[in-house]
Amino acid sequence: MTVKVNTSGKALDGVRILDFTHVQSGPTCTQLLAWFGADVIKVERAGAGDITREQLRDIPDADSLYFTMLNHNKRSITIDTKNPEGKKVLETLVKKCDVLVENFAPGALDRMGFTWERIQELNPRMIVASVKGFGPGPYEDCKVYENVAQCAGGAASTTGFDDGPPTVTGAQIGDSGTGLHLALGIVTALYQRNTSGRGQRVLAAMQDGVLNLCRVKLRDQQRLERTGVMKEYPQYPNGTFGEAVPRAGNASGGGQPGWILKCKGWETDPNAYIYFITQAPVWGEICKVIGREEWIDHPDYKTPNARLPHLKQIFDEIERWTMSKTKFQAMEILNKHDIPCGPILSMKEIAEEPSLRKTGTVVEVDHPVRGKYLTVGNPIKLSDSPTEVVRSPLLGEHTDEVMAELGYSPDQIATLRSLGAI
Ligand code: COA
Repeated sequence: MTVKVNTSGKALDGVRILDFTHVQSGPTCTQLLAWFGADVIKVERAGAGDITREQLRDIPDADSLYFTMLNHNKRSITIDTKNPEGKKVLETLVKKCDVLVENFAPGALDRMGFTWERIQELNPRMIVASVKGFGPGPYEDCKVYENVAQCAGGAASTTGFDDGPPTVTGAQIGDSGTGLHLALGIVTALYQRNTSGRGQRVLAAMQDGVLNLCRVKLRDQQRLERTGVMKEYPQYPNGTFGEAVPRAGNASGGGQPGWILKCKGWETDPNAYIYFITQAPVWGEICKVIGREEWIDHPDYKTPNARLPHLKQIFDEIERWTMSKTKFQAMEILNKHDIPCGPILSMKEIAEEPSLRKTGTVVEVDHPVRGKYLTVGNPIKLSDSPTEVVRSPLLGEHTDEVMAELGYSPDQIATLRSLGAI
């Protein structure tokens, strides 16, 4: 296999990834590694491929946006790893790659014959990185999707309104969040390999990833157990608190109380809202902006602690002001006074925002079958390793190319194809 020379100046140039991932969590991880310059070879089953190629399709017979937006900058090779000849091809890949990333259901890789012991025999420097739903414990054998992880990791029980059911969030903290965790684990293991010379296993469990992102709620659980109350929550002062951290509604959950407030046009525009934070250092400014100067030195409002029992009334009063402005007008005025706030942006507004295009956070990509589409670019910007987003591969687009790099002749490739191995 040709060793790529580091000429393009990408951080992970020369790192070869055997990408055995599918759906969202694993592909998020390997896409990031590809954006940082790794050569990511995605292994798929011939004729089928990653199941997301055909899920939520918006154009008949074209790879879905679900697939394309998670598989940029990768190469696709088809191998039937249950076919004995296909298994041999995978073994060759294991020998030539630095990292194997997978997010199959528990035990699938072992059933395929690629146990940790076998992989070490083939390549002791190989890093084997896995996303699983759960770590060791009662649920370790379970298949898991995004919302299961959100529910088991503490996000759902703490999201939503106090008088409503547990709620999952739109942010894919279980899938994409765990993919991010795994990517960090992989580069850390690569770094350690520089000194140890050995590969290792990297596990990111989705429950653990979600809990890591919900760590402030475990903080709050302990505060609640000690004090019986959470004064910064909307339930306070009149509601009752149970044994577990309640749903926070739109409370900031931090030391600076915040809430989502209506803006001009809220009656017809579901996103005419602003997030408003009553940050303590600018309390005086807030009072001036909304025309309640008398609150600046009033004993019931002067200090953050004094304000806590009156938060609902305070936000009602601020909302009377925000309702007289559009979210963008309010944003402009509040920013002049250094009052932290944020407009509720719709996906349409985000897609059309020029500054996000300029930074490469939202990117337009051209695809030979589906044409132009928008995607989210690399959210992590490295000054010496810029990201160019390259369209996702068609199924098996690089099979011959990669097979040739592995040393297979055209005749051998044709034979393996006729055997259904690739
Ligand atoms: N050639 C031959 N067989 C292949 C193959 C290939 N190239 N690629 C995959 N397979 C086989 C696997 O070996 C497995 O076979 P087995 O069950 O007989 O051992 C089979 O395909 C299906 O894999 P599986 O992972 O069980 O897929 P699934 O569609 O049933 O389950 C998930 C999907 C996501 C629920 C499951 O993979 C999972 O729980 N993953 C871990 C957690 C995770 O990442 N979840 C989030 C996904 S976004």
